[in-house]
Amino acid sequence: QAFFKPIQSVAPPSATSRRTKVSIVGAGNVGMAIAQTILTQDLVDELALVDAKPDMLRGEMLDLQHAAAFLPRTRILASTDYSVTECSDLCIVTAGARQMPGESRLGLVQRNVALFRSIIPPLAKFSPDSVILIVSNPVDVLTYVAWKLSGFPPNRVIGSGTNLDTSRFQFLLADHLDVNAQDVQAYIVGEHGDSSVALWSSISVGGVPILSFLDKHQIPYEKQMLEGIHEKVVGGAYEVINLKGYTSWAIGYSVASLARCITRDQRRIHPVSVLARGFYGIKDEDIFLSLPVQLGRSGVVGVANVCMTDEEAGRLRASAEAILEVQSQLGI
Ligand code: NAD
Ligand code: LAC
Repeated sequence: QAFFKPIQSVAPPSATSRRTKVSIVGAGNVGMAIAQTILTQDLVDELALVDAKPDMLRGEMLDLQHAAAFLPRTRILASTDYSVTECSDLCIVTAGARQMPGESRLGLVQRNVALFRSIIPPLAKFSPDSVILIVSNPVDVLTYVAWKLSGFPPNRVIGSGTNLDTSRFQFLLADHLDVNAQDVQAYIVGEHGDSSVALWSSISVGGVPILSFLDKHQIPYEKQMLEGIHEKVVGGAYEVINLKGYTSWAIGYSVASLARCITRDQRRIHPVSVLARGFYGIKDEDIFLSLPVQLGRSGVVGVANVCMTDEEAGRLRASAEAILEVQSQLGI
């Protein structure tokens, strides 16, 4: 109850306006970068944070609340108890171990699967109609685990996948071609990690299909140069982790772009990790990997039919095999 009311009430606040709530589990480097990007972009009415470390968590909550005078009005909550996430539209999971310098994402799997057994069921219980968005690594395998543990339909369980790799790819291509990264249409698909696949054949800038333009005008380019750009995408996270210990800002923006698309029902196409069975020749396996998909308030709305060359389709298949090999050892 307020001790003094500076505003005299004329009518009760609207009870019908729809509130948007996002919860983030894991208030470490990645969780907080996502939280701060979501807040500055005015995406939600309520933001709930969950972490296993109560003091650090309360400190992060207070620190964000103290920015109230500079931010759009958002209720910020935090607790180690999952009831704080009740009635979320979107639950984002960033909790868990991260890579040490030189370590691969797939090496984290056992530690993070164990954590997910205590994270996913309470999230699903308190927000049974939400979309769950996994960020913790290895993100494709953990999205499969979250799907299994939540009991949700597959359209409501996604992984941030190669949305970030694709941004790295667009940045490098834009730099190479001297254009704005937002004008580069290009996708990385498959595993978020070492076996990711660059879809060179469908790259375009301002409506110009790059490779067929070069072929048509007999402009020579070396395949090695293309491979070099993809290698930089794959090596990008390793380089940042070697230099600063973790990655945070780019994944913060990447996940905020997904949160915007989902909570505002934007129906944009994002390469994210989804149940791939039935698409691009993946027939019988329940496997999550990134494909360009249309996202909205209900999660995955559709999967884009991108034309791939035989080589690209073969690489996607190999990426699926790499994920399956890890997944088959989980016993989930
Ligand atoms: P971090 O160590 O800074 O944060 C992890 C947080 O998880 C910590 O605050 C920890 O207390 C919390 N946590 C651990 N167990 C928990 C539990 N049972 N319940 C609630 N909270 C728990 O690590 P980070 O740098 O933020 O990275 C987090 C994860 O995100 C890692 O797995 C990392 O590999 C991954 N990541 C993914 C991407 C991507 O593109 N998918 C990008 C960057 C990082
Ligand atoms: C990334 C993390 C480490 O930044 O997956 O790509």
